[in-house]
Amino acid sequence: MKKQRNIPKKNYKQSGRLAQKQGGRSGARTKSSSANATAAKPLRQKPSPKPKKPMKAAHTDTPHTQNIQWFPGHMTKTKRQIERDLHMVDAVAEILDARIPLSSRNPDIAALTAGKPRVILLNKSDMADKQATKKWIAALSGEKARVIPVDCKSGRGVEKFVPALKELLSEKIDAYHKKGMLNPTMRVMIVGIPNVGKSTFINRISKKNKAVASDRPGVTRGNQWFTVAKGFEMLDTPGVLWPKFDDQTVGERLAFTGAIKDNIMDIELLAIRLLDLLKELKTPAFIERYSLTDDDLSQPSHELLSIIAKHRGMLISGGEADTERAAAAILDEFRAAKLGYITLEFPAD
Ligand code: G4P
Repeated sequence: MKKQRNIPKKNYKQSGRLAQKQGGRSGARTKSSSANATAAKPLRQKPSPKPKKPMKAAHTDTPHTQNIQWFPGHMTKTKRQIERDLHMVDAVAEILDARIPLSSRNPDIAALTAGKPRVILLNKSDMADKQATKKWIAALSGEKARVIPVDCKSGRGVEKFVPALKELLSEKIDAYHKKGMLNPTMRVMIVGIPNVGKSTFINRISKKNKAVASDRPGVTRGNQWFTVAKGFEMLDTPGVLWPKFDDQTVGERLAFTGAIKDNIMDIELLAIRLLDLLKELKTPAFIERYSLTDDDLSQPSHELLSIIAKHRGMLISGGEADTERAAAAILDEFRAAKLGYITLEFPAD
């Protein structure tokens, strides 16, 4: 539930190509080769479609790009922690944002954990395009990777997590059984960038009793272990971004979805970039919500921002459009899927 607020100036950055057309209410965040170590198929950003014909001004007429500044979090510390603890887990649970599965994957963490079997949780799938999510499931699944779409907010799909883990680790569990260890404990490390829904997932999946870390040899005191099912324990890790986005569309998509905090970005620029995409998608929810005509949609995005402000009665003294307020509203509403169920990136076909 995003609140409408007075928008502080922030800083963000540039272009991206859209993705998926989808309207109304219906269903439901790295690109980096290292990040895709477990993927069954190669991934790519969807290429930019050609600009639409004689629209009054193509959206590219707005040089609205900015370098998105962000705080990566304690990346070095987190990497050291993961390196230290990786040997004691049997699998990794990686949470991605179903709307941006490439951009929401921390390539450094993905590379660090690449050798482990993993369950990939496509979270926030309630806000993603369903067909795109299906494609992502196929693209990311592999011998050592199971992919589950989840909506941790409602809990939908979360019940599939433990069965997927059991299936993924069945050979290992069988081997323990053959050695006479009937109740082995499988340990899973959970990773995910900030705001992807890690806490929400942990709250859903964890039994109330936290595992007692200091009881077991080799288990670092102070780590956050949770029991998720009989024989399954989970280790939490801090959600961190990576220090540098090589691809500026990644930073932009992370900003659209709220993974990078608004208070470090120019939100008007950010909203204008988002409008570039929304104009192309023309989801019914977007058009209806802002009462947009074809002529409105043909305007450059900075003009469209003013139009939306006026349609919404967001004015400053003198009757001018309050574009800052409108920008905040557009971003909030996109993040709440009020402008349609939209996935911003696709796997390679
Ligand atoms: P984090 O630990 O990875 O940083 O993320 P966290 O769980 O705090 O979730 C970040 C935001 O995303 C929260 O919203 C949370 O409710 C929301 N969220 C998590 N999973 C899902 C999901 O599957 N679907 C949807 N639609 N939202 C999800 P918030 O606005 O920050 O807080 P609140 O409104 O829930 O209080």
